[in-house]
Amino acid sequence: MTNDVSPDTHRTRRLRATPAARAVTRETRVSADQLVQPRFVVPGSGIREPIGSMPGVHRVSPDVLEKQVAADRQQGIRSTLLFGVPEDTDPEGRAAADPDGPVSEALARLEERFGDDHLTIADTCLCAYTTHGHCGVLDDEGRVANDDSLSRLADAAVTYAEAGADWVAPSDMMDGRVAAIRRALDDAGQQRTGILSYAAKYHSAFYGPFRGAQESAPDEGDRSSYQLDPADAEAGLRALRRDVREGADAVMVKPGLPYLDVVHRASQETDRPVAAYHVSGEHAMLEDAARAGHLERGPAIGEALVCLARAGADLIVTYHAREALEEGWI
Ligand code: PBG
Repeated sequence: MTNDVSPDTHRTRRLRATPAARAVTRETRVSADQLVQPRFVVPGSGIREPIGSMPGVHRVSPDVLEKQVAADRQQGIRSTLLFGVPEDTDPEGRAAADPDGPVSEALARLEERFGDDHLTIADTCLCAYTTHGHCGVLDDEGRVANDDSLSRLADAAVTYAEAGADWVAPSDMMDGRVAAIRRALDDAGQQRTGILSYAAKYHSAFYGPFRGAQESAPDEGDRSSYQLDPADAEAGLRALRRDVREGADAVMVKPGLPYLDVVHRASQETDRPVAAYHVSGEHAMLEDAARAGHLERGPAIGEALVCLARAGADLIVTYHAREALEEGWI
């Protein structure tokens, strides 16, 4: 032992010497309350189909969804993020605002069964509903037309609010959508509906498996003209500030682990709750590495979630939410 530091500062291992010492002094705790479980909903009844690109995740009809959420709640989960997988698509993505669509039906069921004790969040985007798979409508040259997309997104948001969504979560990355949605919600008398904006949403290869789940990959081109460049942290913070000014109640950073610097800066920058989305590609990496025997699944998942919280995420959206609680990985 050297003499140039006092024993008090040198012996840092005392604080982690035993399981009890570690538990008592732990800085970051992940709680069930902050976990958001994403769910995919299809029309029909009695449907539960596995999603090939996302092991352990299913597309389900609204009746089955209600049972899934009831089981999630048994583990303490208080919030569900809903993605619709419609039967019909068209160039304008009209089915996103279908009051008889699977998302609306699911929202109504959850509202009826769990009421204010459960927070329902409806992902609001056009990509699953458009034939071309882009997140907005196209102009004559085939470019994503920002302003023409806003009314479609606002219609969808109002539809979900009327069906019982507590929050809508625009994930399209059009400019001005938070303001357009806030105005439309207020005009429709839905002042209570919150907006969780996917503010710092990057153009990420880590969404690959999700596009299989929602059948939403673009036919032509990619999303780099509206989603953010992975090299630009500042652009994410700018988008976040803008969305808060436009009326976002909470903001999201997405993906999660590769963007922990953005999560951290977002949490310092805004007084709004910050959500981090541990996306499908992050899920796939863990699942496949565990299956190959390269890492231990539970501890790796637990570590991923605690690191998101440590970086500053208030909410964590993760496909592993229920299992992490069930298995005690967090
Ligand atoms: C739709 C949307 C996507 C995700 C959430 N909402 C796909 C995308 O933008 O390409 C990705 C979620 C995930 O990968 O888990 N706009």
